[in-house]
Amino acid sequence: MIHFSLAHYERAPAGEREKIEAAIHEGFKAGEALYITDYACDGVSQEQVGQNVARVRDALRRVEIDEGFVGIDGKPVKRRSFCVINEFDHPGIDFSYISGQVGVCDGDPESLLKGLSILRASPELVRALEQNNRLMNRVIGVVMGVLGRNLRIPEEYFREHVLKRSTYRQRLAYYDGAVSDSLCGVHPDGNLLSFLITDRKGFRYFDSQFRVHEPEPMGIVCLVGSLLWRWSRGLYPPVFHYVKQMSGESKTSIVYLYNLENNKTFRVAPYDGSREVYVNDIKRYKPEDLSRDGPFAEVFDALIERVKYE
Ligand SMILES: [Fe+2]
Repeated sequence: MIHFSLAHYERAPAGEREKIEAAIHEGFKAGEALYITDYACDGVSQEQVGQNVARVRDALRRVEIDEGFVGIDGKPVKRRSFCVINEFDHPGIDFSYISGQVGVCDGDPESLLKGLSILRASPELVRALEQNNRLMNRVIGVVMGVLGRNLRIPEEYFREHVLKRSTYRQRLAYYDGAVSDSLCGVHPDGNLLSFLITDRKGFRYFDSQFRVHEPEPMGIVCLVGSLLWRWSRGLYPPVFHYVKQMSGESKTSIVYLYNLENNKTFRVAPYDGSREVYVNDIKRYKPEDLSRDGPFAEVFDALIERVKYE
């Protein structure tokens, strides 16, 4: 795991920042997750984030269980959940923006519609999510800045073409300890970077050596998704992960699935001035990621052999 104190990084002199950024580059190449600590900002404390997660948990307890997604090991996800989507740099919950994304974005549309109706009925929940969004906007902005420099993307192009109209879809999920087999099967996330906030252990990931890590819930866990693998032409492998069976102990998670604008064409990364382009075709790539005919199939058996849901 790459430990990354956001407060320390922001205060560090230029030379030290460069070293931290180089360590993140090497860590991502080795399939490690970024573990972000000291991330409080703009009047949003880490304690408030915890309170907001508790509010999300209370709302999710009443939501029906969904079982749509299936991991590479055939394990279906079982959790109470819904989705919300925001444009990067627009932390306010915008109902008309969300409606416009139903059927367009990479997430399941039913889950976005479910989220719309839950949020319309709960202004307090909206306030809690917006407060977390303000904080996550900054966290994502910092990590994306590091990524942009590590991939040598020219600054203006990065600001005007990469970050602009990028989004983060949130998956708010409650793994109910009272329900049998409340878990999530092994998969890579089909987006650029994921940021996980949770209130309990149970999330596990594999690095490139197939070593299993189970991060503590205090920090934000940032994972490379399969679209970053594609955009970076295989430089950063996607991080396969799962959620163990939560029996007796319930767990609440908010995952911010950060993505570049869908179907847009980008210059390849690391940037080398070539004319080669990458098209961010999420709907085409997502099924490939989980397929035995897809680009990651050669690691499936090694992962399935090592996964333990207890
Ligand atoms: Fe995931």
